[in-house]
Amino acid sequence: MRQARVWFAALIAAALMAAAVACVNNTTQNSGGGSTAGGYQRKPPKKPGEPVHIGFSMDTLKEERWTRDKDLVEARAKEVGATVDTLVANSDDAVQTNQCNALLTKGVDVLIVAPHNGEIAGSIVEAAHSKGVPVISYDRLIRNSSPDLYVSHQVEKMGEMQGKYALDHVPKGNYVLIGGAPTDNNAMLLRKGQMNILQPARDRGDIQVVTDQFAKDWRPDEALRYTADAITKTNGNIQAVVASNDGTAGGAISALEAAGLGGKVLVTGQDAELAACQRIAAGTQTMTVYKPIKPLADSAVDSALKLAYGQPLDAPDKINNGTTDVPSILQVPVAVDKANLDDTVIKDGYHKCEEVYKDIPSHQCPKTAENKPSTTGGQRSAFASALALVGFLFVGVAVAFGKRR
Ligand code: BGC
Repeated sequence: MRQARVWFAALIAAALMAAAVACVNNTTQNSGGGSTAGGYQRKPPKKPGEPVHIGFSMDTLKEERWTRDKDLVEARAKEVGATVDTLVANSDDAVQTNQCNALLTKGVDVLIVAPHNGEIAGSIVEAAHSKGVPVISYDRLIRNSSPDLYVSHQVEKMGEMQGKYALDHVPKGNYVLIGGAPTDNNAMLLRKGQMNILQPARDRGDIQVVTDQFAKDWRPDEALRYTADAITKTNGNIQAVVASNDGTAGGAISALEAAGLGGKVLVTGQDAELAACQRIAAGTQTMTVYKPIKPLADSAVDSALKLAYGQPLDAPDKINNGTTDVPSILQVPVAVDKANLDDTVIKDGYHKCEEVYKDIPSHQCPKTAENKPSTTGGQRSAFASALALVGFLFVGVAVAFGKRR
């Protein structure tokens, strides 16, 4: 009897030890195959060949670039055999949170989130992680949480590009600074980059910052108002507007034009929107920062697949989001002005030459198939069809004639 009790106790001890070992192991790999890397229990990885379902939560489609992001993310997913559900929150945090919850309920394997509010979106990461779903923070950094990956461009560097361009061309004078949405981490990084360059010039007294504002939700009408106020305040004595994106640049330029200052004040931007490229061609906007979207969209989808299949990510960068160093993939931006518009945005096919220079007919666009307006293409194919028809008739007549002889 005593021996049986000893054996029983030994068995219990062994079971407890096994459970403890399993618990420890579980911090890296669970029995179902879902790892806990990143501090949460991941869904078990998909088996090779099993399709991946991605949820793409977007803040807005207001700026032209976001439509491109949506199209390119969906196209890449199709290319690699994944499905995507895209939902757009129209700058409403509650809507974005609900949409993400809906995507999680639907059972997406990975969530890609371009947050409206980087702080609030931390709760989206928490909700996803509680269901074992990894989150990729897209273009804008999600804070207050540990997203699995951040894909974006080098945003602080973009701010430096804007500041440097302005200072190189306007080394002295009155500056207006128009930042983006205070809820968007990118707006903060851009301002940081701009000030890395501008602050020393300000300290030297070379430049004076007459207005320093952030436009709610990146709204062009806010940028217009801030610029108009600055014009009134300085009696039109403004030499540079450092606008953080093309939308706000457009608002600032409307105010400058209304005051007869269009084309006389340096204006920066970001996104290489078609309207901005047209303004650069026309001389009312001075520069923009071109951020190719395809590599960004591809990196998001390709990484989503890696996360879903439990493969390691290829994320060479790290960005601290206040909570942790988030593994990051950051694409390289390009400063664009009148001098390199053709060699960058147009050469890449980001915009058609004819569209960029539509108000400047004197500009010679290269006669490539890519740049020919679609009507020309249509005419060309109509001509080819007519030629084929004539050829066909000719052969028919020749055959009939041959038979008669
Ligand atoms: C993006 C910009 C965009 C802006 C407004 C930023 O987070 O990086 O490309 O213009 O949001 O949507």
